[in-house]
Amino acid sequence: MAQFDLNINGKKHSVDVDPETPLLWVLRDNLKLVGTKYGCGIAQCGACTVHFNGSAVRSCQVPISAAQENEITTIEGLSENGDHPVQKAWLEHDVPQCGYCQAGQIMAATALLKNNPSPSDAEIEDVMNGNICRCGTYNRIKAAIKSASQTV
Ligand code: FES
Ligand code: FES
Repeated sequence: MAQFDLNINGKKHSVDVDPETPLLWVLRDNLKLVGTKYGCGIAQCGACTVHFNGSAVRSCQVPISAAQENEITTIEGLSENGDHPVQKAWLEHDVPQCGYCQAGQIMAATALLKNNPSPSDAEIEDVMNGNICRCGTYNRIKAAIKSASQTV
């Protein structure tokens, strides 16, 4: 066990865990930020996507020892009131079905639009390809990203 100082959603946190503990576990179990979901644990589904210094990463693959001194944002910290343009577009297009994958989808989409405010269909597919949705909401996800791209 060791102590790690973290910067999550603009707040400082300190946790005492094994250095190999995945960031996802710390978010959910230690910090109770349960918006980030566990899907596969092996980098295959994207349900655990968070922002790491502004880029989308799979938090199940980041050991907590690599997370110190970095800026981490989870779905809870994306906006004050759920009013990020991507979240608004999600509502407008009624994207979620069961909802399980959606935090990861939104975090991947917001990172995409930050780097590329006006992505083509092919660019959206390329980036979002690794975020699996068992309910098949892919068409609505793409439509919501397209409409958010006009506003970010
Ligand atoms: S839980 Fe991390 S990619 Fe599936
Ligand atoms: S909305 Fe159900 S898994 Fe995506």
